Amino acid sequence: SPSISTSDRNNSMGANLANDNDLRVLAEQVNAAVKPWRAAPLVPGAVIASAAQDVSNPADRRQIVGQWQPADSAVVDKALQNAVNAQPAWDRTPAASRAAILEHAATLLEQRMPEYIALCVKEAGKTLPDGVAEVREAVDFLRYYAAQARAQFGAAEKLPGPTGESNELQLHGRGVFVCISPWNFPLAIFLGQVSAALAAGNSVIAKPAEQTNLIGHAAVKLLHEAGIPEGVLQFLPGDGATVGAALTRDPRVAGVAFTGSTDTARAINRALAARDAAIGVLIAETGGQNAFIADSSALPEQLVKDAIGSAFTSAGQRCSAARVLFVQDDIADKVMTMLAGAMDELVIGDPGLLSTDVGPVIDADALKMLEDHAARMASEARLIKQAPIGEAAAHGTFFAPRAWELKSLDQLQKEIFGPALHVVRWKADQLDQVIDAINATGYGLTLGVHSRIDETVDRIAARVKVGNVYVNRNQIGAVVGVQPFGGQGLSGTGPKAGGPHYLPRFATEKTVTVNT
Ligand code: NAD
Ligand code: ALA
Repeated sequence: SPSISTSDRNNSMGANLANDNDLRVLAEQVNAAVKPWRAAPLVPGAVIASAAQDVSNPADRRQIVGQWQPADSAVVDKALQNAVNAQPAWDRTPAASRAAILEHAATLLEQRMPEYIALCVKEAGKTLPDGVAEVREAVDFLRYYAAQARAQFGAAEKLPGPTGESNELQLHGRGVFVCISPWNFPLAIFLGQVSAALAAGNSVIAKPAEQTNLIGHAAVKLLHEAGIPEGVLQFLPGDGATVGAALTRDPRVAGVAFTGSTDTARAINRALAARDAAIGVLIAETGGQNAFIADSSALPEQLVKDAIGSAFTSAGQRCSAARVLFVQDDIADKVMTMLAGAMDELVIGDPGLLSTDVGPVIDADALKMLEDHAARMASEARLIKQAPIGEAAAHGTFFAPRAWELKSLDQLQKEIFGPALHVVRWKADQLDQVIDAINATGYGLTLGVHSRIDETVDRIAARVKVGNVYVNRNQIGAVVGVQPFGGQGLSGTGPKAGGPHYLPRFATEKTVTVNT
């Protein structure tokens, strides 16, 4: 079957997966790593009395892979008190020492790659290549933000001034930062947010998505083992509407780093603004309605491979995934025929098998949203292809990847988060209309372009309002420090994760002037 993984990029120097045999050995280790994983709040001094809840495997709902306990309001309060108390000493800890702890955590994570991949496969339904890419990205975030902390927070910046006066600009942690993450990158985004906030000198309360508590718990334990004090980083699992909302309402919180849906980002923004407290900072990375524009100069084989990779890798559960392929009329029929043929070859099933291309979607709610969308498309669009689902999918939450031809982008009102691609034709004189339609969605995350005409590429890249443009390749899998990632408009506030401007947003600036 065709490989649709992006993980042939080797974005982490430490992971040693040189060949297929290494991958087979890793797969055996991953599949052998069955533990009764557990997750509970990690809050010093708190009494954890909530009932444990089962965690089931998205690929086979009969398989219980662990249990977790949510935080109650007393635990939330205790975590906030601890975080307030712990932050000043952590902020005074030299940036180089904070960085060294994050680098140590990166090394530990690399050494324990099979267990963390196993958690990603069994709790989040990630395929093995996605699990490898997830751990590598988490390692990259830890090392990148450690390096940025040394460079940007290591010494105060000396500023010019008159004789007899010294001036310097210092960066400090803002205080207590709450990190709220989604289930689709339960290790990489989780650790990316947390490590950035820590590197900048904040104490952190990490609230994972409800679906991926086991992974979040294991990640926080790893950071504690690496040397982050337990009061400086606390783990607070629970529902977004209760635990998440209580945190964002609390006046003790200086800022929130959030990745998830646009609606939730709005709710958090409102909660922060309504507090009778200092103005809270929100860093939000949210959804997308990502387009992929191909003109008649595109190479159909490469275009189809990249469209399939962009739309269906990770079962389409990437904010960066392609949702709408705009293809120029002249090549549209050929491209759709080839797309249907390639989709027939996709292997959908057990994410623990190396042969699997597309695993399950995260849960029953996600499946229902996709099935409702498919029902609507049945009357409003032409089905190009529904990929075949095998027996392996019988007990999990699987959705067969689908592609439909639409008449216009207006038929898609919201982000469809899963393996669903939509194709829209355009005529040679309609390129500006296509760009206007993409901009009019209000989202601005990723854009794919396939064209061998430089003027067309430049025209699109200059006019489109998105955060990440990818030309003649797929449009997913941004590499930390190489393709800083994040959008604009409904897709987020910036600054970009994995980029040089991210860390300062977690900091407050202080100018110190001394009359010498
Ligand atoms: P979600 O918004 O439902 O949940 C995200 C997190 O917010 C979870 O931890 C949840 O518990 C919490 N939450 C929910 N309601 C809350 C509230 N009222 N107050 C505080 N916290 C609350 O999103 P999801 O379904 O977990 O993730 C999928 C979404 O994330 C998609 O829209 C996807 O595009 C987006 N995403 C964006 C990026 C990016 O970098 N731009 C990356 C990954 C995912
Ligand atoms: N950063 C992830 C990607 O680029 C979401 O696919």
